[in-house]
Amino acid sequence: MGSINEIKAGELSTEDFIKEKTREIATLVGDGSAINALSGGVDSSAVTMLGHEALGERLKTYFVDNGIMREGEPQEIVTLFKEMGVHVEIIDAREIFFSALKGITDPEEKREAITQSFYKDVFGKLVRDSGAKYLLQGTILTDVDETIAGIKRQHNVFAQLGIDPQETFGYQIIEPLIQLRKDGVRKVAEALGLPEYAYNRIPFPGPALAARVIGEITEEKISKVRIATSIVEEELASSGAFQYMAILHQDKVTGMRAGKRDFGSQIEIRCWESIDARNANPTKLSYDILYKLADRIVNTVPGVVSVTYNVTPKPPSTMEAV
Ligand code: XMP
Repeated sequence: MGSINEIKAGELSTEDFIKEKTREIATLVGDGSAINALSGGVDSSAVTMLGHEALGERLKTYFVDNGIMREGEPQEIVTLFKEMGVHVEIIDAREIFFSALKGITDPEEKREAITQSFYKDVFGKLVRDSGAKYLLQGTILTDVDETIAGIKRQHNVFAQLGIDPQETFGYQIIEPLIQLRKDGVRKVAEALGLPEYAYNRIPFPGPALAARVIGEITEEKISKVRIATSIVEEELASSGAFQYMAILHQDKVTGMRAGKRDFGSQIEIRCWESIDARNANPTKLSYDILYKLADRIVNTVPGVVSVTYNVTPKPPSTMEAV
């Protein structure tokens, strides 16, 4: 694959972009059909709308419930797209993902287990059953950059890793957003008619809450980080930050509750200022906000006795912890 021509957000004509990409999708798919997975993030939401403009009912859109999404997410997304005139089918794949993640502690192996479960076991099967030859996917340029640089293996980058999806999974991938970065995708999503809360959503990684649990993934740990995530997202919604998150650490620390020693879990909060996720700085949150976050988390998330705030920029940190 040759190098990708970046389209900077400032130089992007959303109208031309949408016209060009819908034409490209329609031409490639011809009179066949395509499928795509919607996670509700701005990238897959934009791809879903582009695909539906190009193909109408010939694009089947699925939401894969992998059990590692945020609170209430599957239903919210289905409802939003119903309002946009797009039918989204929920696939319950929770078992498949949790069993694939069992026993794995290495970050890259976790990503790989999610990739394999998603593309082979769940999506591969959906594509085979549907007869679709094409999969539409919301890969963006930052995913490609970071994969090539060997920083993180983004779950949705294949060509750059030398993986042929046709050979490996039996379908071709169309990536209409690959020339854009997040800021460009948001403009396209807005132009496609998505509501503000959908195109201005903070980024959320493909590996979902699994990117926010250090060490082995279990349903219990996901449930803890899910509660902490809801609190952090609620409290920081008006912060204007690029992204904010809660991370569940593996190491336990000594704490105390009701006058007794309590060897409990730690949650780390991260909140980022960034334009395109390539570099980021921690937001200078006030102590009032930090205290409130800590108070809510230790009083709501079972077993948590310590809450910390990350003050390291990217680099050398990355935004997610896994
Ligand atoms: P990092 O942690 O690499 O994150 O500094 C940069 C941005 O990318 C998001 N991210 C991902 N997005 N699949 C995605 O679609 C992934 O595997 C993935 N990993 C990180 C992260 O949330 C941040 O916005």
